Amino acid sequence: MAEAETACAACHVNKSNQVVRPDATPCVQCHEKGFEKTFEEWRSTARTLLAEVRTALAAIKPAALTEEQKVQRAEIETVLAALEQDGSAGVHNHAFAAAFLRDALKKIQSWTKG
Ligand code: HEC
Ligand code: HEC
Repeated sequence: MAEAETACAACHVNKSNQVVRPDATPCVQCHEKGFEKTFEEWRSTARTLLAEVRTALAAIKPAALTEEQKVQRAEIETVLAALEQDGSAGVHNHAFAAAFLRDALKKIQSWTKG
């Protein structure tokens, strides 16, 4: 999707020429029916992962981290903030968002293990 460079307007401008927060409508205009499920999956996966990473980060005691883990934590915070600010719940670049968040979660969990 992101690679296809879909124009913003394809999703963000409706038939009445109003700028909108899209639901799954544009997905099924370009793709066949059934893509509204993909849309829901993308959004719920990304929202769940965002919340899980936030919770995991909050449980970390920064003083217990190694220097390398501190650097990784700062990187995760930066990308996480960008994803949250983007506000599309991973829809704008789902493959990247989901892969990044899963990887971040694994990393954070490994820090708290013995
Ligand atoms: C494939 C469809 C699609 C395309 C293309 C797309 N967006 Fe989005 N965008 C979405 C969806 C879906 C949301 C999340 C709506 C929601 O909150 O449920 C969103 C959310 C946003 C938001 C956040 C809105 C808010 O209220 O927080 C901004 C800003 C935004 N898009 C800008 C852009 C820009 C700029 C482009 C072009 C570079 C673009 N979008 C292209 C689907 C798309
Ligand atoms: C303006 C037309 C357009 C809209 C709107 C659109 N897509 Fe796409 N989509 C494309 C094109 C073009 C491709 C790339 C060509 C291909 O892989 O078939 C693509 C590829 C995909 C792919 C397969 C490749 C990948 O990156 O995973 C999925 C899944 C997908 N779109 C889902 C969605 C969802 C969900 C929405 C609604 C948020 C959406 N699309 C909205 C045109 C569109």
